[in-house]
Amino acid sequence: MKSSSATALAHPNIAFIKYWGNRDNVLRLPSNGSISMNLDGLFTRTAVSFQPSLRLDTLTINGHEVTGKGLTRVSQILDIVRKISGINAKAEVVSQNNFPAGAGIASSAAAFSALALAASKAAGLDLSEAELSRLARRGSGSASRSIPGGFVEWQMGSGDEDCYAFSIAPPEHWRLADCVAIVSAAHKKTGSTEGHALAPTSPLQNARVEDSARRLTLCREAIFQRDFEALAEIIEIDSDMMHAVMMTSNPPLMYWQPATLGIFHAVREWRASGFPAAYTVDAGANVHVICLKEYAAETEKRLRELPGVSETLVAETGGAARLVNG
Ligand code: PMV
Repeated sequence: MKSSSATALAHPNIAFIKYWGNRDNVLRLPSNGSISMNLDGLFTRTAVSFQPSLRLDTLTINGHEVTGKGLTRVSQILDIVRKISGINAKAEVVSQNNFPAGAGIASSAAAFSALALAASKAAGLDLSEAELSRLARRGSGSASRSIPGGFVEWQMGSGDEDCYAFSIAPPEHWRLADCVAIVSAAHKKTGSTEGHALAPTSPLQNARVEDSARRLTLCREAIFQRDFEALAEIIEIDSDMMHAVMMTSNPPLMYWQPATLGIFHAVREWRASGFPAAYTVDAGANVHVICLKEYAAETEKRLRELPGVSETLVAETGGAARLVNG
């Protein structure tokens, strides 16, 4: 074993073409491909240290010890790393996020990509980007997209081996910003793992999945051409389609709050009057408003004036997951 500890940093990402539903829930093989942008400035930093003296894996997040389901999910990734590397030792995992929980930023993407990189390095493995992306995917599907940098596509693949994400453009290709509008009345949400399992119960999911190649092409092209209007149209439609599936699942998932809808209308009005902004929403009520970087300050100002917006957070296009000093 070359080294027994390593620390990695990874950014969360915001999906432009969403992942919702798996064709294999255990391997987390998605029902459709997806495209996202990494979020600079926001990160999870995770240190992993394999220690022969430990009886069990341990997990600390932001200074608090985590047990139960959270620890089990982390141990599952450590087990894969132990299997590939042939080491038996249990690990101490210490993680910190620099963004608040409940801020409408999916922390699992940054968390599992940082864990995949730190744990594999600590075990002495030198995995390729695709292998790291596959490993991160096992913890949280969207984490596969936080391994590569900039604008990232996660291909469905035909099975575990070719189901990974890769960069389609570096961060400097197009300086966008994600202005997150935090909606005050956020209620407790159904987690995405349970949500993915409900997707096939919606009669709309098949139509959403069947149309996904078309949406992926439009989104990829909009990014390549730096065509904001085209990007705006496709990401709004894609987000609305995912929420249509959520709302028509059995049991139904309704993530939006009245303020969420208010922001949609405002953003569409801004765009109709020439202000380049577009909305997208993950499994929550908070709205991610995507704009050109130079419009971020004005977007934030406008969002803060809308009813129900308690706070805003801005992130620009970010880079890949990377090793850092411990
Ligand atoms: O990676 P998960 O299981 O947390 O799922 C993410 C689901 C969405 O955020 C709603 C969409 C996406 O593609 O990120």
